[in-house]
Amino acid sequence: MDNVEEIISEKDILKKVEEIGKTITKDFEGEKILIVSVLKGSFIFTADLVRHISLPVEVAFIAASSYEDSSVSSGNLKIRYDIDIPCKDKKIILVEDIVDTGLTINRIKDYLYNLGAECVKICTIFNKPDRRIMEVDIDYNGFIIPNEFVVGYGLDYKNQYRNLRNLCKITI
Ligand code: IMP
Ligand code: MG
Repeated sequence: MDNVEEIISEKDILKKVEEIGKTITKDFEGEKILIVSVLKGSFIFTADLVRHISLPVEVAFIAASSYEDSSVSSGNLKIRYDIDIPCKDKKIILVEDIVDTGLTINRIKDYLYNLGAECVKICTIFNKPDRRIMEVDIDYNGFIIPNEFVVGYGLDYKNQYRNLRNLCKITI
């Protein structure tokens, strides 16, 4: 049996998501934005977040993994599901569940700029800075968490636990 223990409550997560949504609304007042949600982990965060953004929003999804290879700075991204909305000249908010090594989010950001995005801001609900390999400029940062493997609020371990409403650390 896996041992699952709460580290952030559902109430605290939802309060933070509301704050981030309000900040984005203020920062992009009078503009339209494109939300790009990184599958699968950020599907729940994205669903909650967009309902706290009072702006015209488009929503698109991307599924990608990145592999560590110090010789390649941005080319090492494997896209499994691509965005189905044009990115050219769009103001994009890239929504991630967790920034860990930083490789995935930085490479997706480069990819969106290559597609012609006007700007790409990074928004993550969880952040594990101790694990960073590549520096990440995070514009909207939910919670800094310790170097533990976590599940819930969209995050999985072996495809399980995404449906937990809180964030838990898991000991296997
Ligand atoms: P990166 O290491 O920053 O490239 O993160 C890659 C992906 O690994 C994240 O988007 C998550 O989907 C996943 N990940 C990283 N840390 C955890 C964790 O503690 N629990 C579940 N998934 C994680
Ligand atoms: Mg992810």
